Amino acid sequence: MTHQLLQHKRGVIFGVLDRDSLAWAVARQCKDEGAALVLTNTETSLRLGPVLELAAEVEAPFIPADATNIDDLRRLWQEAQQHLGGPIDFVLHAVAQSDNIRRHRAYEEASHSYLMHTLDVSALSLHKLLQTAMEADALSEGASVVTLTYIASEQAMANYSDMGDAKALLESIARNFGRAYGERKGVRINCVSQSPTPTRAARQCESMDRFRHYVNALAPLGNADAESCAKVCTMLFSDYTPHVTMQTIYNDGGFAHTGLTDRVVKENAFGI
Ligand SMILES: NC(=O)c1ccc[n+]([C@@H]2O[C@H](COP(=O)([O-])OP(=O)(O)OC[C@H]3O[C@@H](n4cnc5c(N)ncnc54)[C@H](O)[C@@H]3O)[C@@H](O)[C@H]2O)c1
Repeated sequence: MTHQLLQHKRGVIFGVLDRDSLAWAVARQCKDEGAALVLTNTETSLRLGPVLELAAEVEAPFIPADATNIDDLRRLWQEAQQHLGGPIDFVLHAVAQSDNIRRHRAYEEASHSYLMHTLDVSALSLHKLLQTAMEADALSEGASVVTLTYIASEQAMANYSDMGDAKALLESIARNFGRAYGERKGVRINCVSQSPTPTRAARQCESMDRFRHYVNALAPLGNADAESCAKVCTMLFSDYTPHVTMQTIYNDGGFAHTGLTDRVVKENAFGI
């Protein structure tokens, strides 16, 4: 069921890699809700997943850009506005990479050069994206920017290595740029804190399936899937959240605010 919540809106979606990507669920939902889209990702992504096939499905051009590269981002804003015929009304930032996680290096053993890369790709890219958009005046009055985060920004999580630090920085950038861009042009910037979801990035974490099972048992509503994430993003992109900004919205079935559930204690979800 769709409500045409994004009719006449223009959006840029970062991070569609394959059919499991959270950004893919968001792109599909936005298209169904009436938006015109541009998809962007690295050149490398074209070799890793069926990105162009997915772009064709939502009738969006693909404009390559490395989200850590200022020149790429400047070109992206220019070409996206040309293609869409005006300023951008919403942006999804769904960008992350940790070589420490990929190489199974625990937090306490993290390589510092990998850590710098993790912070650049997974957090500073949001600052770069927003700074270049502001410089080019690429976003419309009251536009909405959403980035995807995880509860490890606030709670220590096993198997998440340096990404907890990256998510803490990401959320801080969303708040600080939310203040600046809000005052400048009414732009809203929010984070959606998503349940663990089986994507290419998430599968790089060790024991991901057991981890998801554990979190699912601890969340009163269970884990949220990618389609659920897409609905929350759509709400934030729509005109129904005009004064919501600088927030972290938990799309996690209640996990972030739960100590124990009956599922764990009485139903013995872990077979203890
Ligand atoms: N899957 C989960 O459990 C989960 C939970 C909470 C938050 N998130 C966040 O959601 C976002 C999307 O991840 P996903 O889980 O859909 O995995 P994914 O692997 O589908 O997406 C990650 C994307 O980041 C892109 N990327 C990496 N380096 C880039 C760069 N330099 N420039 C531009 N793009 C780059 C990749 O190409 C890929 O499209 C990430 O920020 C992730 O941390 C995921």
